Amino acid sequence: MMTGHSGHNMNHGGNGQHQHDEVNMPMLNGKNTTQDEVAHMRTLFQQHPSITRDVKNIENGIVTTTLSDDPKVADALINHVAEMITRVEQGDNPEVPIQSPTLTILFEQGNSIETEIEIVENGVIVTQTSDNGDVVAALQKHAGEVSDLADRGMVAVHEQMMKAHHGG
Ligand code: HEM
Repeated sequence: MMTGHSGHNMNHGGNGQHQHDEVNMPMLNGKNTTQDEVAHMRTLFQQHPSITRDVKNIENGIVTTTLSDDPKVADALINHVAEMITRVEQGDNPEVPIQSPTLTILFEQGNSIETEIEIVENGVIVTQTSDNGDVVAALQKHAGEVSDLADRGMVAVHEQMMKAHHGG
């Protein structure tokens, strides 16, 4: 015999409702991301242990060297950087649900960022500078966040999101 209200059993028990889908990573889809862009980000997360990274903070910005011995990952890196920096230049924020809040100012101030991308054998060297001190600070902060992604993958994302949402 049914008693109580009908909604009572909905979403209880968590039978997969909150399952963490690390394989398909649906949270990499933004408002206008292409399949290629999502595939490149997925490769970077999944293969992050094969990525090495060096960041130099310079007076007006950053010089980053990001490499992988795995040609597929190096290819994803080169494409990701080109895709995302094009977006920054166009002010076209993809609003990927798990993206760092540090990116907001970069998308807003893309016109004040000078970028040089040098493609090397196993990856890419990126130099970005700005005359705007707030933008320089954001470039340097974001470069550190990317290093954290390269080191720890999704764990780093989860931690960044917990900090952003719970002030911890
Ligand atoms: C949530 C997923 C991600 C999003 C939405 C994202 C987005 C972006 C954006 C918007 C930029 C341009 C920022 C700028 O102009 O400085 C960028 C740069 C870059 N991203 Fe990602 N990214 C993601 C994940 C990753 C991962 C996992 C890696 C691999 C470690 C990575 C590597 C890079 C690199 C090397 C750059 C060039 C800037 C730098 O070297 O600091 N990204 N990304």
